[in-house]
Amino acid sequence: MLAIKGGRPVRSEPFPSWPVWGREEEEMLLSALRSGVWGLGGQLVERFGEEFAGYAGCKHGVPCMNGTTALKIALKTLGIGPGDRVITTPYTFVATSSVLVELGAIPVYVDVVEGGVNIDSRLVWETIDSGVKAILPVHVGGHPVEMDLVLKASESLGVPVVEDAAEAHGAEWKGRRVGSLGVMGCFSFQSSKVMTSGEGGIITLNDSELAETCRALVNCGRSLGRDWYEGDLLGYNYRMTEFQAAILLSQLRRLDEQIERRQRNFEELARLCRDLEGFRLITPPHGTDRTPHYLVIIQADGEYFRGVSKQKIVEALRGEGVPASVGWPMPLYRFPPIKRYLEHHGVRVSQGEFPNTEKAASEFLFVHHRVLLGGRREVEDVYKALKKVEQHAGEMA
Ligand SMILES: Cc1ncc(COP(=O)(O)O)c(C=O)c1O
Repeated sequence: MLAIKGGRPVRSEPFPSWPVWGREEEEMLLSALRSGVWGLGGQLVERFGEEFAGYAGCKHGVPCMNGTTALKIALKTLGIGPGDRVITTPYTFVATSSVLVELGAIPVYVDVVEGGVNIDSRLVWETIDSGVKAILPVHVGGHPVEMDLVLKASESLGVPVVEDAAEAHGAEWKGRRVGSLGVMGCFSFQSSKVMTSGEGGIITLNDSELAETCRALVNCGRSLGRDWYEGDLLGYNYRMTEFQAAILLSQLRRLDEQIERRQRNFEELARLCRDLEGFRLITPPHGTDRTPHYLVIIQADGEYFRGVSKQKIVEALRGEGVPASVGWPMPLYRFPPIKRYLEHHGVRVSQGEFPNTEKAASEFLFVHHRVLLGGRREVEDVYKALKKVEQHAGEMA
């Protein structure tokens, strides 16, 4: 019997907790505290910027407050402003589009790939025209976007790509690190991410001039070589603190080992899940050399679970001890504030325009990456919970 109906759950002990920290974080935090320099003028933010940039395969890293501000600064640095059209995905966290709205730009949505989570690069290629000012793909759940046609579209029309890599630290597409594939990459270090300081963000890039503009915009518009209260740019105070950088420098040391563990466990989970009929594990696309598996994304087949809501399926999995969530239940073009904004700008989405996004929003659920940080037992428990819930699908309708 399902645990939500009074049966025994598959798993009663918790999965590994997140975040993971230890002596390294404690020592680094204390040293930041004892330095007496907690903000401007400290060494750690700069050091973290350099180290993370190197990790992402880039020359420059501009740390900032969070992933949302990283996206905003990256787009603003490229001059994206009112009325500018930016190709992006409707299947993502709201911040990817809210920054466009904030800048007055118009999101031009294209569908995701069939059965997958990422923007369909073939559609990017077909949609782009010379009026498009940027392409903003998202590496959802740490799965790299199939970038070939995105990059080809970008190169052929000279349209810059800003990668939303908020969920994809350390991911690799055809041997290249995510965050270094476009003109700029934007990462988040919010609490659930695969490396975290509670909040935090960074922009990674190779172009030195653009890096200087990003730095200035993050730091109230201050530019190198100008007096403290002078400058040409209207910027923001989006600076990272030394405490955040102290933790992130330590978190970065843990990342590779954790990615390897998650990759091993995911492979085992994928092997076990092959015999499932109602659930399908979404695997990273062809060309992925590495992924941090920020999210385990699972499709609950609509036909198989006919009459059972995604919410109910998630409740059943949680009852069995698996920390599942409904994920993004609504494509962004239907999210009320964005829908109103689009309509205000004369953009209307017609029924059936985004079939793959609609399917993803209605059928895909998320499980946090910490379930992959354990051993074989944890992997088997995720599988057993999925198996049990699908076997009892009839009782949930
Ligand atoms: C895809 C995506 N983009 C942007 C963000 C925004 O990052 P933050 O929460 O650090 O502002 C997040 C995460 O929260 C995200 O998952």
